[in-house]
Amino acid sequence: MENIANAPVPRHVGFIMDGNGRWAKKRNKPRTFGHKKGADVIEEIVSDCFGRGVEAVSLYAFSTENWSRPKEEIDEIFSLLKKFLKKYSGKLIKEKIRLIISGDTERLTGGLKEECLLRVKETSGFTGHTLNIAINYGGRAEIVRAANALKGKSGEITEEDISGALYTAGLPDPDLIVRTSGEQRLSNFLLWQSAYAELYFTDTLWPDFKKDELTKAFLWYAERRRRFGGI
Ligand code: FPP
Repeated sequence: MENIANAPVPRHVGFIMDGNGRWAKKRNKPRTFGHKKGADVIEEIVSDCFGRGVEAVSLYAFSTENWSRPKEEIDEIFSLLKKFLKKYSGKLIKEKIRLIISGDTERLTGGLKEECLLRVKETSGFTGHTLNIAINYGGRAEIVRAANALKGKSGEITEEDISGALYTAGLPDPDLIVRTSGEQRLSNFLLWQSAYAELYFTDTLWPDFKKDELTKAFLWYAERRRRFGGI
């Protein structure tokens, strides 16, 4: 494989972690088993991104459309998220990673809302890496929220105003969005922010997305950017 050293590294990477259900189905297991395995690979992928020099990582954990899933599945995803945040909190503090949550946390049950608020508060002073987890998130709703926040502003609303009123205010826009499991769409993820992002699609299901898969995505990105900068 090509040497990845000196290749352009994305400043911000977003992951649409798709395919947990299919991964479980292939093994005759319940969908929740797939989510559990999916949650297990997150820590390694996030750490590897930061280790490679990425500044911000965004994870699409629960969309506003996901409320149509069975209650047991929603409860399991929330429980996995809560466990992940609790387990990862030591690392967030040790490595000075700022956590932000994109989305409306009001509806999050089972103690997830409180866990989110606590970990966000604990890490709010950090200025190095940022981990952005999108929970009960939709890109259009985020833009509407920003527009409403800007209602009282005098003068014209600029692109900078809107960027600054999104959950991701202050972060670089994503340079790379990775979507696993073969679907090729954004599904309402970081719509405004992804205007110029490279979109990487792989058939690999999220629970199988390990470090070597990340390397492939980064090499693909480096190649795209090299061509982009050429004549
Ligand atoms: C998509 O797979 C995945 C989700 C809707 C949930 C993602 C959640 C996790 C990976 C676990 C918790 C997250 C964190 C950050 C700890 P799918 O269910 O749509 O799979 P399918 O398309 O194969 O049915």
